[in-house]
Amino acid sequence: MSSRPAGRASRRLVLGAGLAAGLGRGGAAWAQGGGQGPGLYQIARAKGFTFGAAVQSGLLAGDPSYAAIYENEAGLLVPEYEGKWATLQPKEGEFDFAALDGVVGWGLARGRPTRGHALVWHESFPDWAVSAVAEGAPRARSVMAAHIARVLSTTRLRIRDWDVVNEAVADPPGSDTPQAQGELRDTPLLRALGPSYIDTAFRLAREQDATLRLVLNDYGVEEDTPWAEEKRRRLLALVRGMLQRRVPIDAVGIQAHLQLVRPFSGAVFASFVNALRAEGLSVLVTELDVREGNALPEDYVARDRLVGDRVTAFMESAIGAGVKTFLTWGLADRHSWLVTFAGVARPDGKLHRGLPLDWEYNRKEMWRAMARAFSGA
Ligand code: XIL
Repeated sequence: MSSRPAGRASRRLVLGAGLAAGLGRGGAAWAQGGGQGPGLYQIARAKGFTFGAAVQSGLLAGDPSYAAIYENEAGLLVPEYEGKWATLQPKEGEFDFAALDGVVGWGLARGRPTRGHALVWHESFPDWAVSAVAEGAPRARSVMAAHIARVLSTTRLRIRDWDVVNEAVADPPGSDTPQAQGELRDTPLLRALGPSYIDTAFRLAREQDATLRLVLNDYGVEEDTPWAEEKRRRLLALVRGMLQRRVPIDAVGIQAHLQLVRPFSGAVFASFVNALRAEGLSVLVTELDVREGNALPEDYVARDRLVGDRVTAFMESAIGAGVKTFLTWGLADRHSWLVTFAGVARPDGKLHRGLPLDWEYNRKEMWRAMARAFSGA
């Protein structure tokens, strides 16, 4: 398959035909196959949006049909694990960029940039680092500084956008995974350095690179529940404090791992995005996917429609509030963490259908919901 995007004129023609043929609920033209008609990133781009998805380097290299769906759909890549600490620095001072290069190099060959995820996170933080930062503040700071310096200096020509700190806000009481106390998540770096570890990470990143986009990424702030409201308050307070302290931060990433069991209010979410943007920050949707409800409808059409409807409501709200960049956490259900990761998989053993493409890489209602949201904007 050609790795070149279609030429300008022909792309516009295809896009026009696709928009006319396939956007309705029953639109068969776009319903099947990864390669029919323009991809989501092209539909998004025609309206000034960026669409991308999390990707796995091993599948990209080893599974041509997996690579094809990324080629067709994703204008921006984010490595699902390849940019995390445990992969990049599995032992102290021993860095390994091979897996990350697999993603970035594939994208560069096709004009698809990669965003970085994630420099500092309490997960994928290897045992050696847990022990090292427990030795005290000076050691913790130097371990964090060394990691950030090496990763950013190595990737600076190829990655211009990084999640600097991931999931720093503590989950409030009532949420799925409440943390006992504090507004910030209890992590090894918080214990060693106190709340200023977040400021320090962003400052270290800015020292390395004056124009890199520095992003604070988090979840649990999307839905219309009391604990999401509290988490929104905590995240806004964190961000405002950082700005007051003149910490360099450019954007907030909202993961958007949505759940159908929870209520969603477009107005509530939009006002949160507006509040962040009023602080001068960009807002990105970084990891969109949807966990289905407790009782599933019998047929896939009905299931997929529920997911699609939630995605429509979410995207209309986000777009209305000024979000320009959307990434899903994977493209196809077959490789979604919602089916492979025990913490979020369905307890009844059924498989979530929470991404734009199904198990066989066919476009389904979520794909069409996203296409409609982009093209109608
Ligand atoms: C997940 C991956 O998808 C899994 O494969 C991995 O085992 C754990 O991490 N929020 C994030 C992502 O920021 O890095 C997580 O990715 C999903 C939740």
